[in-house]
Amino acid sequence: MLEANAATKPLTEPHPALSKYKVVDLDFIEKMEAVASAAVDKVRENAQEPEGKKPPLVFNATQLAGLCGKSPTSMARLLEKAQELRLPTGLPPEPKEKTPRRSFTHEEALQWIRAVNENYFKRPVGVPGCTITIGNFKGGVGKTIAATSLAQALTLMGYKVLCIDLDPQGSMTSLMDVDKLEVEDEQTILPLARSVNDEHYRDTLHESIQETYWPGLDLVAGSPSLFGAEFMLPMRQMNAHRLEPGFRFMEVLTRALDKGPRQEYDYIIIDTPPAISYVTLNAFWACDGILMPLPAEGLDLLSSTRFWSMFTTLARSALKGGGTPKVFSWLALVPSKVDHTKAYTQFNLEIMRNAYGANLLNAELPLSSAVSVGGTTLATVYDIQKYVGSAKTYQRARVAFDNLAAQVDYLTRTRKWGEDVKEPKPAFVQTGRKS
Ligand SMILES: Nc1ncnc2c1ncn2[C@@H]1O[C@H](COP(=O)(O)OP(=O)(O)OP(=O)(O)O)[C@@H](O)[C@H]1O
Ligand SMILES: [Mg+2]
Repeated sequence: MLEANAATKPLTEPHPALSKYKVVDLDFIEKMEAVASAAVDKVRENAQEPEGKKPPLVFNATQLAGLCGKSPTSMARLLEKAQELRLPTGLPPEPKEKTPRRSFTHEEALQWIRAVNENYFKRPVGVPGCTITIGNFKGGVGKTIAATSLAQALTLMGYKVLCIDLDPQGSMTSLMDVDKLEVEDEQTILPLARSVNDEHYRDTLHESIQETYWPGLDLVAGSPSLFGAEFMLPMRQMNAHRLEPGFRFMEVLTRALDKGPRQEYDYIIIDTPPAISYVTLNAFWACDGILMPLPAEGLDLLSSTRFWSMFTTLARSALKGGGTPKVFSWLALVPSKVDHTKAYTQFNLEIMRNAYGANLLNAELPLSSAVSVGGTTLATVYDIQKYVGSAKTYQRARVAFDNLAAQVDYLTRTRKWGEDVKEPKPAFVQTGRKS
């Protein structure tokens, strides 16, 4: 028989730092959080020498050629003309290097990409950028990894990108090398949700945007205080008839993005929490493209269909009594965490293809240790400069995220920006095995 207080007893062998606690009370949980956070931070600091900050990326001439869509030979020819082209000449090779190659800082690489990559699209002045919301109310499907990697990949195509983290978990913020516990409310979307009578109320995001360690990528951070928005928005809607007639809670982010960011950024990537909430509805209302990462698993598939029915029901009820109907430029799903060693994966992928047809992207994110290792050390495949595992494993993951970005950019250029471009063919790295 269970002892009366069994449920409140700590684990039989508690962490040494927790041994003085006799029961699982709030003090115990607070201490456990502090100990666990310190352990996690340590992994991160060790992985990010020096000073626990992500190191700046450096690209060699071969990597630069890849980013510029050139063969190494034609890149070498272009590099010889760097001064004439008024482009960076890069750093000379280290004297002891086996294959002496020039290297380029991240900013220098972006200058080259924008100048010589034939696929680089310079968005005409006045044409708004594309806002993409990454959503799925199922947790752990790879939303944040997809959102952050996509944002980084788009910058490496030459675009200017803004990430908006709407998840109180703040995982995207952590991946952007910002400590979510040090994020001020003013650096999040919270001021947009406040009552118009609140002195901290804002209707723009300008004061919330911060630069990040990643050139070309800015951030509106996420933090635990975002939970507050889930109370503020319904309250504001209730008081709207008195204070701001015509107010619709789900248009708050839309209006803030209309006041600047859509003109200032080529892409705005919004990461959402695993829930349909007042804040997530804002993200869907504000976006041009919806991207849902979806694992090739039966239950995940099932819940994805429920997501759409819940989303449309809620959106329709929010629109009752008027309002502009919402039209999206595109909607896409991408198979995520795909593990081809599992017998039923292919079968489930076929069901997904039948279920979603052309809305299922021609890109696939593999379950990969190059992604999960990065998840622990707060690095995406784009942060990793030297992968400790097999080069093929890394390459396979990297190519998958490159494919995702290429497909998303194709949809945006054709459906939002009205460009006449060819659909990119997905690249493959064949291994046939889980890596
Ligand atoms: N392709 C992948 N291969 C291996 N691991 C992955 C892959 N994608 C995501 N993961 C891991 O799965 C976990 C969940 O990923 P992620 O945080 O991106 O999901 P999420 O949908 O944003 O979760 P949440 O709903 O909690 O916000 C992380 O530990 C991440 O490192
Ligand atoms: Mg997430």
